[in-house]
Amino acid sequence: MKNSEQKNFVDSEVDRKKEELNKMSYFQLEDLAHEILESGKIHPEIAKKIEKEILEDEDLNREKLIRIILKLRKILKADKEKNHFKEVFSQSGKYYLNQEIMKEITENLVKIRERVETLKNKAENFLGKGSVAEVYSSGRNGKTCFKLIFNFNEYQKGNDLEEEMNFLDEVVQLGEIAGVRVPMPFYFWTEKEFCFLVMEKLEAVSLEDVFKRKASLPDNFNEEDFFKSLEEFVKTLHEKKKIHHRDLHEGNVMIDLVTGKPRVIDFGLARFIYFDEEKERDLRGKKSGVNDFEMIKKLKKEMKKFRKIYRS
Ligand SMILES: Nc1ncnc2c1ncn2[C@@H]1O[C@H](COP(=O)(O)OP(=O)(O)OP(=O)(O)O)[C@@H](O)[C@H]1O
Ligand SMILES: [Mg+2]
Repeated sequence: MKNSEQKNFVDSEVDRKKEELNKMSYFQLEDLAHEILESGKIHPEIAKKIEKEILEDEDLNREKLIRIILKLRKILKADKEKNHFKEVFSQSGKYYLNQEIMKEITENLVKIRERVETLKNKAENFLGKGSVAEVYSSGRNGKTCFKLIFNFNEYQKGNDLEEEMNFLDEVVQLGEIAGVRVPMPFYFWTEKEFCFLVMEKLEAVSLEDVFKRKASLPDNFNEEDFFKSLEEFVKTLHEKKKIHHRDLHEGNVMIDLVTGKPRVIDFGLARFIYFDEEKERDLRGKKSGVNDFEMIKKLKKEMKKFRKIYRS
């Protein structure tokens, strides 16, 4: 599930930085490590742990110091990119942070429950609700949102949040296809009866909200163009990633408020499918709810119906 290109890029970056460090003396390296640790940019608990590691290591050598500095730089980079301490488990963050540090940060997010509760209790943060989860913005101007599971029976029938995040990760790698894209996933948290996924908050309205008149159709929405783009996106998804969304209903397709283009969310039922669609359909013995193009056809019909009523 790794993006090998990105990984190679990161690897060569790391190699270049490593070379720079290789030219430094032991004392210069030690100074540099302390400078980063004392900069206040590293989470205090992590800084404390690494500081201790340095102090207590009797065989501290250049090699070890270089490793520590590289580790610290990875944290700084992920942190800077996401701007917020709790949002370091992003797709790119996964490449910058090693498992050990990720675990450590996770363990330190002690206030996470309270934070989620606070967000939930503010009506202005509510973004939408499906059959499995509710989605809340992480603040009025926040760029991230929480998908919080509430129906654990239904949740168990589909992908867990880790799988959902992995699907989003895969699709994000494709970039925009015909102007269509998915939200960037950041991290997930799963505990018994307390699970959420943090992802990019889209500036978009769902087709469902439009059909139910909870949101208005963005001005720049072009019906023909919208569905053509959506079909091209799905075709590419099938061909390049072998991913089938399998749940393209009106709650899972959104319209971007700026571009009017589709945004596809909710990979809770997605699957990797390596054989052709016809076979897949036959195997399951069911057409609707499985075949992405059939689902788009339904959406098109709904939109036609809606516009007819809307116009009259
Ligand atoms: N990244 C996002 N940005 C903005 N709004 C979102 C985002 N993700 C979800 N929403 C809103 O929240 C609603 C519910 O999200 P989602 O579809 O992921 O939940 P679900 O319970 O898995 O849905 P389903 O009933 O399809 O299983 C969406 O219909 C949409 O209105
Ligand atoms: Mg949904």
